[in-house]
Amino acid sequence: MKTEQYLHHHHNNRRISLTKNALIKTSKPAAYFILLLLTYTIGYLSPPSSSSTTITSLPSQPQQPILRISINTTELDPFRVTTRCADPIPPEIVRRTLIDRLFNGTSPFENFPPAHAAEKLRQTKRVKGWGSNGAVFENLIRKVRPRTIVEVGTFLGASAIHMAELTRRIGLNTQIICVDDFRGWAGFIDRFNNIPMVNGDVLLFYQFLQNVVTFNQSESVLPVPFSSGSTLILLCEWGVFADLVEIDAGHDFLSAWSDINRGYRILRPGGVIFGHDYFTAADNKGVRRAVDLFARIHNLKVRVDGQHWVIYSS
Ligand SMILES: C[S@@+](CC[C@H](N)C(=O)[O-])C[C@H]1O[C@@H](n2cnc3c(N)ncnc32)[C@H](O)[C@@H]1O
Repeated sequence: MKTEQYLHHHHNNRRISLTKNALIKTSKPAAYFILLLLTYTIGYLSPPSSSSTTITSLPSQPQQPILRISINTTELDPFRVTTRCADPIPPEIVRRTLIDRLFNGTSPFENFPPAHAAEKLRQTKRVKGWGSNGAVFENLIRKVRPRTIVEVGTFLGASAIHMAELTRRIGLNTQIICVDDFRGWAGFIDRFNNIPMVNGDVLLFYQFLQNVVTFNQSESVLPVPFSSGSTLILLCEWGVFADLVEIDAGHDFLSAWSDINRGYRILRPGGVIFGHDYFTAADNKGVRRAVDLFARIHNLKVRVDGQHWVIYSS
């Protein structure tokens, strides 16, 4: 009887362990599969952080491959801009192209000034600027004889108007493209409280237009009232190149660095990029460091003309 009971018990145990084994056998791959699925979902198995380059596409944009570049270096080399600008458009169509594409075909000077601003604007020949009449402008304009000048940082237009007067006097047919968001900078009204304001909106752009009109230069000066970053990228994409690029917008390192890098890309071969505040108090904010770093990376020479730095492209 005992033997019978033992055999029965033993038989049952074997059945249980066989079922257990079968269960383990089938559930193991399933568990691995679920684990694999989970790791993909939460991203553990996405490409590791290294300097590798992967091309993936988003489900919503199947046609557009997205370049994912992970950087694991502190070298500057991977930060070079490698995309190409469009082929240069002829200088004689630069103004028309910008008016068409930026202002729907209507020049900002048309029907200026608007009624709501007219009586607030000052008509003066004394336009405030910084080093805006420096010898560097005449030196470079005589040397390069530019057809297109891009000024990054214009404010009330002192340096732009000075360049327009110089090119007219020398007999050049030059367009001066003024890239400025015409916002000034936070707190600038502490020093410029005579620029009118409407509902918290400082009328810097209108006062700039007024100054250009007062000097009768509205045919040779054209503002581009947007941020320097977006504008310089667009000029490059539209093939708008300059013989002279002047950098005088944000004076902190990062602003100067990006403006110089983007400005250099729209320089014609043989052109010159230059800018203010290499030596003045503002250079401590970063202009000089940005200029020197840029020159070192590109193996270019920095020259000095008064308060300005000057870099020849070739
Ligand atoms: C020092 S002022 C330019 C002075 C002018 N070149 C002159 O000599 O009269 C700097 C100008 O840069 C503009 N600015 C600063 N950061 C900018 C940015 N990221 N995009 C566009 N304009 C900017 C400001 O609005 C300001 O008018």
